[in-house]
Amino acid sequence: MTPAVTLNGVVKRYATARALAGLTLDVERGEMFGLIGPDGAGKTTAIRLMCGLLHADKGEVRVLGHDPVAAHRRISEQVGYLSQRFSLYGDLTIDENIAFFAEVHGVSRYHARRDQLLEMTQLTPFRKRLADRLSGGMKQKLALACTLVHEPTLLLLDEPTTGVDPVSRREFWKLLSESLSRGITILMSTPYMDEAERCTRVALVHEGRTLAVDEPSTLRALMPGPAGRRVPPSLEDVFIAKLAEQEAKP
Ligand SMILES: Nc1ncnc2c1ncn2[C@@H]1O[C@H](COP(=O)(O)OP(=O)(O)OP(=O)(O)O)[C@@H](O)[C@H]1O
Ligand SMILES: [Mg+2]
Repeated sequence: MTPAVTLNGVVKRYATARALAGLTLDVERGEMFGLIGPDGAGKTTAIRLMCGLLHADKGEVRVLGHDPVAAHRRISEQVGYLSQRFSLYGDLTIDENIAFFAEVHGVSRYHARRDQLLEMTQLTPFRKRLADRLSGGMKQKLALACTLVHEPTLLLLDEPTTGVDPVSRREFWKLLSESLSRGITILMSTPYMDEAERCTRVALVHEGRTLAVDEPSTLRALMPGPAGRRVPPSLEDVFIAKLAEQEAKP
């Protein structure tokens, strides 16, 4: 089977900035893949290219075996995208928001899945409440439920848990684990290193390039540690070491 996502030497410029400078990575089917990088590294740009919302200037983008721009309709049926600044409809209830997203994707028999998603996110008691009147964590869980209601095979999540309290974050992750057990592929960008540690593989991204792609434990094991190091290296240590390595190259 083709990988869920392939980016090969992808370059993307905006009028005033080069966001991607030859980004290369593969996401295998069924994995939980993390995009890790500082502000402005190019994470959102990479995800928007995968959704077919942007054109690459150079390089190859393949999603579920297709060019996501040319096959935009087909891709949007199979992909769930949660943008960094996603929008729920504040004047619609939880139920109405889910119904809206199901209808957008042309799904009419979503009620059983909706009820299950609301149970898993502990949102069932609030289903008649307007989205504007939900807490930040509840909004984020509802947004994930809306993204999952059309049963996508690939989930693209752009910093979905930023600013979410730890309890909601745990419930959010429960839903991600359930999705993985159904065989869904997930790619998420996150600034949280504990979330990066839970990914099967991560790409460390800096200034639009991949510094490294591997399993978190493999990346940590590659770190040359000082003799007698008491604390094992963190992914953050790996990131900084990879950056120094890159900058030392002529
Ligand atoms: N619409 C745009 N027009 C011009 N420059 C842009 C635009 N969107 C992003 N950029 C620039 O492209 C680079 C990559 O931005 P991008 O949003 O992809 O990064 P990011 O890794 O998602 O950052 P963050 O962690 O802050 O969300 C940055 O330098 C950013 O300023
Ligand atoms: Mg971003």
